[in-house]
Amino acid sequence: MNDVLILGIESSCDETAAAVVRNGREMLSNAIHTQINIHREYGGVVPEIASRSHVEKIDSVIDAAMNEAGITFDMLNAVAVTYGPGLIGALLVGVSSAKALAYAIKKPLVPVHHIKGHIMANFIAHPNLKPPFVCLVASGGHSHIVEVRDYTDFHILGRTRDDAAGEAFDKIARVLGLGYPGGAKIDVLAKLGNAEAVDFPRVRIDRDKNCLDFSFSGVKTAVINYLHKLDQNGQAYDKADIAASFQAAVTDVLCEHTLEAARKTDNKIIALAGGVASNSELRAKMTRLAVKEGIEVVYPPPVLCTDNAAMIACAGYYGYMKNDFADLTLNAVASLPLEDES
Ligand code: KG4
Ligand code: ZN
Repeated sequence: MNDVLILGIESSCDETAAAVVRNGREMLSNAIHTQINIHREYGGVVPEIASRSHVEKIDSVIDAAMNEAGITFDMLNAVAVTYGPGLIGALLVGVSSAKALAYAIKKPLVPVHHIKGHIMANFIAHPNLKPPFVCLVASGGHSHIVEVRDYTDFHILGRTRDDAAGEAFDKIARVLGLGYPGGAKIDVLAKLGNAEAVDFPRVRIDRDKNCLDFSFSGVKTAVINYLHKLDQNGQAYDKADIAASFQAAVTDVLCEHTLEAARKTDNKIIALAGGVASNSELRAKMTRLAVKEGIEVVYPPPVLCTDNAAMIACAGYYGYMKNDFADLTLNAVASLPLEDES
């Protein structure tokens, strides 16, 4: 069979990204323009500023992806684009660009779900990886445990009831004065601290019902209250100890639920995805615990954990193979559910 070349486009949050992937597995380019520096002074993503920056950058990012891949538009089989979930104004930029491009070059348009994209990053990082497996998707906006039954068949086993894991990392980093985005900064600082210094809560909702849902607002509040009390009493604390103890609480819960999901579904592979999947403690802990049960743990390199378009092109490949095309009425959907999400 001839090679299938897909251009992926991603603009759901604060990364403007385009990438070309061959046969769903081989990344020919991965262009990313991150807006982190623009949003840093506000301590978080400002939606309107994000949309405006996407509009400015998207054409040059697409050009960069095509040039880096060394191909021309006529060689593409399809254009894949994230159409949700995400910030609506940001998503509209990618969707409009992809539609205009697909129309102009007369190629099919493949709509991609952002979370499914995150999961697919594992197929690029691990060319021999095949479903079924269980995937923990933990990012700034999402925390899901998904059973990947096939390339286009996803089943949610657990999700957060409140904050996403990355959101909690970002909030605690801000409280500790580490800046935005904070996940990677907590990861680095935690290496210098004692993870047992403070026993922050590991929340387990409806344990008796074997519920795999997460709740991170409790641990977030516990850390904030703990620091507040110390501040009020004029007591000093070691930021590294707080970072390590907080990270230990969050990663314990992420590991426990994901391992239980793998056991429950009899899966022998756990994949990690999303920005929080680059957390070194999460990777090490999950691997250490899983290996004892004969479960393999895989994850993408950090550049494919955070938002990128290679993961969208990979998901686009599997959509293309199933003729899952959108017409030019495709719209962005801010809170797009995963296939069988209720
Ligand atoms: O996947 P992503 O780029 O965006 C969303 O789709 O939300 O994830 C960004 C999130 C941020 O909350 C960031 O703090 C977190 O991933 N993150 C980390 C690490 N690197 C990024 N969290 C913990 N440890 C890290 N090393
Ligand atoms: Zn994301």
